[in-house]
Amino acid sequence: MTFDSKALRGAFSSYMTGVTVVTACADDGSLVGFTANSFTSVSLDPPLLLVCPGNHLNSYSVFEHCSHFAVNILSDAQESVSNEFARSNDDRFSAVDWQADDNGCPIIEGTSAAFSCRVHSRHTMGDHLVLIGEVLGFEHSGKPGLGYCSNGYFTLGREREANAVATSGLTGFTGVIVEHQGQLLLNDNNGVKSVPHIAVEKGEGARSALNNHLRLQGLNITLGPVYSIYDDHTNGHRYTFFTAKASTDASANMGSYCPIDTLPESTFIDGAQADMVKRYCAEYQTQEFGLYVGDAIEGEVHHGE
Ligand SMILES: Cc1cc2nc3c(=O)[nH]c(=O)nc-3n(C[C@H](O)[C@H](O)[C@H](O)COP(=O)(O)O)c2cc1C
Repeated sequence: MTFDSKALRGAFSSYMTGVTVVTACADDGSLVGFTANSFTSVSLDPPLLLVCPGNHLNSYSVFEHCSHFAVNILSDAQESVSNEFARSNDDRFSAVDWQADDNGCPIIEGTSAAFSCRVHSRHTMGDHLVLIGEVLGFEHSGKPGLGYCSNGYFTLGREREANAVATSGLTGFTGVIVEHQGQLLLNDNNGVKSVPHIAVEKGEGARSALNNHLRLQGLNITLGPVYSIYDDHTNGHRYTFFTAKASTDASANMGSYCPIDTLPESTFIDGAQADMVKRYCAEYQTQEFGLYVGDAIEGEVHHGE
């Protein structure tokens, strides 16, 4: 049976996972590591886990032959570490603090947990290797983990903040910054732009309210992480904005697409939305998106921490 591999990958990636960085030391002493969400715990007795390096990896031959490897389970502050180890770059380890374990495999600092493994067995399965490791040692910090689903990161902390409005006594509004090929979906009312947003019913979570709205509008968009949460003290409103990437330029009744590079000069419905869009445009250049928490005037941008 053959499938459209992009569609199959999309369906597989709807499974929510954590994120790991798998590391090893090659025979010549060089270090390799890649971001992996194919991690699974397998057995307690004996202690076994598995991870699946793909044959597309530059480091694939190392994982075909190494005697040991390590699995670093990233914490919710380590989105940038995940990005670093997912892009082709020979110097990935200079971006993180790490120490070698007894077998020379890098253990990254700040993780939720890390496992040092001896290779138990390898099974070539199609275009990936199922690499089973016997756990020789581990550490566990208790830090909450980083989540991944449908090409976007999430953290439980952010999701809980986004839903806190249900019990806060504020009137909730939720909206989404939808991006498609360098353009954002925005409403335009006589030259005054706004990010599409709706009111949230009491007791309803921001994400589910927005998902329902998008479905009703007929817009097939998967919401990404929460991007901005702020209270407007002048009117008792709490705003929760998400990001999303659209695969088509369909806009339903939610506005029209505007090129990102034109937006910093545009007029917005209020200062909070203007600041938010300006920040998005700047962060779009590096694709490292933070989370703003505060009020309509001041707050802090968190990068995963
Ligand atoms: C969240 C996430 C999970 C990933 N999981 C895997 C995986 O389980 N197996 C794999 O081979 N590649 C996986 N990748 C892709 C590799 O991390 C990426 O192809 C690799 O780092 C590229 O390194 P290279 O240029 O040295 O080959 C994942 C990427 C991301 C962002």
